[in-house]
Amino acid sequence: MRAYELRNESGKTVLAMTERPRPAPAADEVLVRMRAASLNFRDLLIGRAPRNAPLIPLCDGAGEVVETGAAVRSIKAGDRVAGTYFQDWLSGPLTANAFRTVLGQTVDGVLAEYVALKEHGVVRVPGHLSFEEAAALPCAGLTAWQALVTQGRIKPGDTVVVMGTGGVSIFALQFALMSGARVIATTGSESKEQRLKSLGAGAVINYKSTPDWEKQVLELTGGAGADHVVEVGGAGTLPRSLRALRHGGFVSLIGVLGGAGEKFSPGNIIMKGARLRGIFVGSRDMFEEMNRAIELNAMRPVVDRVFQFEEAAPALAFVESGAHFGKVCIRI
Ligand SMILES: NC(=O)c1ccc[n+]([C@@H]2O[C@H](COP(=O)([O-])OP(=O)(O)OC[C@H]3O[C@@H](n4cnc5c(N)ncnc54)[C@H](OP(=O)(O)O)[C@@H]3O)[C@@H](O)[C@H]2O)c1
Repeated sequence: MRAYELRNESGKTVLAMTERPRPAPAADEVLVRMRAASLNFRDLLIGRAPRNAPLIPLCDGAGEVVETGAAVRSIKAGDRVAGTYFQDWLSGPLTANAFRTVLGQTVDGVLAEYVALKEHGVVRVPGHLSFEEAAALPCAGLTAWQALVTQGRIKPGDTVVVMGTGGVSIFALQFALMSGARVIATTGSESKEQRLKSLGAGAVINYKSTPDWEKQVLELTGGAGADHVVEVGGAGTLPRSLRALRHGGFVSLIGVLGGAGEKFSPGNIIMKGARLRGIFVGSRDMFEEMNRAIELNAMRPVVDRVFQFEEAAPALAFVESGAHFGKVCIRI
């Protein structure tokens, strides 16, 4: 079968297509014919310096089950499934143990024609989604879901700030709207402003032409501030996010897109009684909960562009350019 590998060659990491034997599923595994993968910002980071190589990259993939091990009961051939980011985080709180089996990082990922995964490491995907749409769910989708729904306990009438137009943020926008909340979206790109409005953002702020975007959030909320900020900027944006937050508001700490930023002071966290919560993707239980909501609401992930299997390098370069809106996929 064809698969991609990240390899170390003379001290440099390279991404190369290779031939590997088709895996045979163990008794507790299912063999998935992968049909699509999606890319995340983390794949750029891992691609620069994988801790273990050779490594099949990418955590997000969807396909159909073609074979099941002798002990598998809950999944059958023909089921349409996606792999879970943390193969062994099934429910409850995140533990250190979960990091031992992260797809495309500590174990081989999904950018291959066939992948053997534990029965408990796959979930059935909503029936109305294409494989590309389903491949968008495991990392970006579930991160946004855990942030707003599982931990943030979003409710109708809330105001949510989402930052930029990457995978996590566009999912957050969609889940916020699905929950009856209002979305204030930021972007650094003029050409993406209209697209955010068409998706349902109530207001859009350009964080390049309006660097103090938090003041506009306060204006738009009558001085009160937002109920949720889905923080993908990290240290570079957190001080502004806290100023944009209402008293008792919720910040989900997710990403590091915004660089180093200003000197951080906890004053606003204390004075506002802000709630901050680190979010790391999510458990299998959360994934299934999210899939039920997606199915019931006939929600479709926003897939910006689909590349062919031979085009993994240009697909990664496209994500690195930041020109995308939502998710970028590879058809396998
Ligand atoms: N903790 C977790 O479980 C988890 C899971 C997934 C992702 N993440 C992290 O979350 C972040 C987003 O991941 P992703 O895969 O969604 O990324 P992505 O799809 O690559 O998103 C990139 C987009 O973010 C926006 N952006 C860039 N710099 C920004 C800044 N300073 N302020 C606001 N927006 C900015 C840009 O949108 P515009 O062009 O519209 O400005 C850019 O197109 C990354 O840091 C990633 O590592 C964490």
